Amino acid sequence: TVIVLDFGGQYNQLIARRVRENNVYCEIYSYKTDLAQIKAKNPKGIIFTGGPNSVYLEDSPTCDPEIFNWGVPVLGICYGSQLMMHLLGGKVSRAPEREYGKTEVFVDTESKLFAGVQPSTICWMSHNDYIEQAAPGFKITAHTANCPVAAVENAEKGLYAVQFHPEVLHTAEGKTMLRNFVYNVCGCTGDWKMDSFVENNVRALREQIGDGKVLCALSGGVDSSVLAAMLAKAVGKQLTCVFVDHGLLRKNEKEEVCAVFGPGNPNFDINFICVDARARYFGKLAGVSEPEKKRKIIGEEFIRVFEEEAKKIGQVDFLAQGTIYPDVVESGLGGESTVIKSHHNVGGLPDHVDFKGLVEPLRNLFKDEVRQAGRELGLPEYLVSRQPFPGPGLAIRIIGEVTPEKVAIVQDADAIWREEIAKAGLDKEISQYYAALTNMHSVGVMGDERTYDYAVALRAVTTTDFMTAESYNMPWDVLGTVTSRIVNEVKHVNRVFYDCTGKPPATIEME
Ligand code: XMP
Repeated sequence: TVIVLDFGGQYNQLIARRVRENNVYCEIYSYKTDLAQIKAKNPKGIIFTGGPNSVYLEDSPTCDPEIFNWGVPVLGICYGSQLMMHLLGGKVSRAPEREYGKTEVFVDTESKLFAGVQPSTICWMSHNDYIEQAAPGFKITAHTANCPVAAVENAEKGLYAVQFHPEVLHTAEGKTMLRNFVYNVCGCTGDWKMDSFVENNVRALREQIGDGKVLCALSGGVDSSVLAAMLAKAVGKQLTCVFVDHGLLRKNEKEEVCAVFGPGNPNFDINFICVDARARYFGKLAGVSEPEKKRKIIGEEFIRVFEEEAKKIGQVDFLAQGTIYPDVVESGLGGESTVIKSHHNVGGLPDHVDFKGLVEPLRNLFKDEVRQAGRELGLPEYLVSRQPFPGPGLAIRIIGEVTPEKVAIVQDADAIWREEIAKAGLDKEISQYYAALTNMHSVGVMGDERTYDYAVALRAVTTTDFMTAESYNMPWDVLGTVTSRIVNEVKHVNRVFYDCTGKPPATIEME
């Protein structure tokens, strides 16, 4: 195990993730954690994160200096590096020139930390303070034009400090540096795998839950599916999953979820409740065409349905949530994503139902790690590699009023679009793709007859963070095949559009 000691930096989870990528287990603890507790974990190395404070100010996060004497290697990053210097007798002060962004760093490749790294390498800097003077016994192993001490070390004691951020991808050789630290300095062997993560979590969940009852809202998305699978493994029948069929799901989606979590699957032997709420939702949505109003109705109705089911079950001790790390960041930093999620977040539920606690075992994982955990838990690939699907479902892919007929059209067109994209081998390349129903009718001709039917819009985007996106450069022959299949196989569609707009100015979804 490597322990990341959190001093409030932005990239803490990223550090942990980079360590895990080397098949070394990693946990994050607050800087306030007692040294005795840290020692009890028997770590092979410790990494101090960055943080927004200045080490020389009173009340700034600090740690027991004994941590440097105990023989376990420490790597300080940014604030962590300054803290190490400050506590060991170096000098940290406000930098005459603040460094931010990609910066050329000159490193001493003799250092164990920089083995295999180019002597001049691009690193990500983000600091106002700097190490003016290294602590006694430390050797300077890197500098930049503005920063005389970009890295220092006391190799004998296993103490290393870097001013830049090796964990972010902007640091070209950061992965090598972190690998050097965990392997060459700490002596980790890299025998940890995601299945150990799953096992540890299953054990921790058992401890936390005891013989309590757990309730989980299962949407069939990646996060909630992995959550349910993990809980199923941990507590089996103590878990009840509620799956709400609001009638706005994609074609066959309900069947796919039921096949995995419904009765009869010995791997996931849980209490599974599938609520058929289609009529309720369509009733509420009738005549409503304003996007925000549609979203609101769907979100509220979801909470109501879920509450009703929870009441039927009786006393429940824990509510399970599929919060993953990017959600934590998003809600912390605010911005657009928080607003988006608020429409369909189960987080609002504890107000109405009485729970002893929350279980959020995926809180520290990134999306691809969640998928990996899902595979370890034996979930089928179609659940694990699913693309994002919005809480309000197809309702926001149908412009204007939502009716069961329109849902059926969009489901069929979307199924064809997905099938052909997979056939063309493009499904792994595109971040998100779907078919939508425009609210437009236009004139067409079919078998000598005039038609006056709907237009379907196809969308496919690539993105890394879903905050911005680009329209995918779709091969014309794929578009041709899909168009002809849709107009032939889906009734009441006589025209197909491809959406070439990026985000911004458009959003990924239609509403
Ligand atoms: P937009 O349309 O805002 O979408 O560009 C960005 C990403 O968020 C997804 N999305 C949602 N996800 N509940 C969700 O859980 C929602 O209400 C919601 N609205 C949009 C969208 O599919 C895309 O991946």
